[in-house]
Amino acid sequence: MEEAKIGFIGCGGNASGHMNTLENIDGARIVATCDIDENRANAAAQKHNANPYTDHRSMLERADLDAIYLSLPVFAHGQPELDVIDRGLPFLVEKPVAIEMDIAHQVEEAVRKADLITCVGYQLRYLGATKFARQILAKNDVSMGIGKYWSGTGRGNPDAWIRQMNKSGGQLLEQATHTIDMMRYLLGEVEEVHAMQTSRVLTEIDCPDSNIVSLKFENGAVGSLTAYWAFDNGDWSHTNVVDVLYKDQLINWNPSRLRIKENGEYVDKTEASPSIDEVFVGAVRSGNRSQILSPYADAVKTMAVSIAANQSGCTGKSIKISNLSN
Ligand SMILES: NC(=O)c1ccc[n+]([C@@H]2O[C@H](COP(=O)([O-])OP(=O)(O)OC[C@H]3O[C@@H](n4cnc5c(N)ncnc54)[C@H](O)[C@@H]3O)[C@@H](O)[C@H]2O)c1
Repeated sequence: MEEAKIGFIGCGGNASGHMNTLENIDGARIVATCDIDENRANAAAQKHNANPYTDHRSMLERADLDAIYLSLPVFAHGQPELDVIDRGLPFLVEKPVAIEMDIAHQVEEAVRKADLITCVGYQLRYLGATKFARQILAKNDVSMGIGKYWSGTGRGNPDAWIRQMNKSGGQLLEQATHTIDMMRYLLGEVEEVHAMQTSRVLTEIDCPDSNIVSLKFENGAVGSLTAYWAFDNGDWSHTNVVDVLYKDQLINWNPSRLRIKENGEYVDKTEASPSIDEVFVGAVRSGNRSQILSPYADAVKTMAVSIAANQSGCTGKSIKISNLSN
């Protein structure tokens, strides 16, 4: 395929980042933008020389498309994906993939049946620092991982969907999902979680501001994650940090670099890497999905860890991922 013609469902803040990146990727062209907010659909269409829509079904019916991006509030996932799958189009969907496991499993099954190329927005998997971490850990038995995601809720509007538990799933599902995904990617599959949650600062919303999650991995490793949501809004330096302990060593990962000890000195490692958008467009054009590191079915496993942790936080009981219902 010479050029991948792309449509967007959801034209908010995150989508505009992807659109700007796509403008600089050879062989990618944004042809249609859809948002239920007409102003957003129009603004994106004007900026990227595309056709605007306010209903994704009309866009799917009328536009000549090769692939779709879905960048929606967490609660809005499900039907849009099923309609994209019906149309037989590959898609990149933002994390987390849904608000409830039933929705995610329904989409996962439809993707499997249609055998479509999918990619979920866990872009940290593609980074140079991550590649180095995986190379080191592949040669070593890992015993413990510690993740951290401390941020603000990041939105001025107190009624924003992200600040409502039934619309975003709170910090563990909406944001710390990146850290959970990285812990899965570096340490292995999660077998069981136990969480404690409280809210002593963000008392005006119904999401916990403090989350502590203990994790047991299938390979026997253990881990912990702390996620705090009442932190300084402008400070992202404590988000997505993962320490992994193995033998008498430690790797300290964050998106910008991997810190390890070599010959008694701590050194930082990273290297340039393709963006998730380049990888997705490349897969759509070539039909070869081998470079996609987080297909839909894999991302459902990351989602399950957050859902289980939220359930554990509510019930006070440990939850085995294999027993998770919804
Ligand atoms: N990968 C990352 O690092 C990253 C970063 C930021 C956000 N995100 C994710 O991107 C997604 C969107 O986040 P955002 O910050 O852009 O939110 P946003 O609220 O700015 O944008 C969402 C847009 O979707 C539109 N929308 C809602 N329902 C729709 C529907 N049925 N059809 C068409 N449009 C619809 C809304 O009107 C809104 O414009 C979230 O899942 C978020 O977690 C990912």
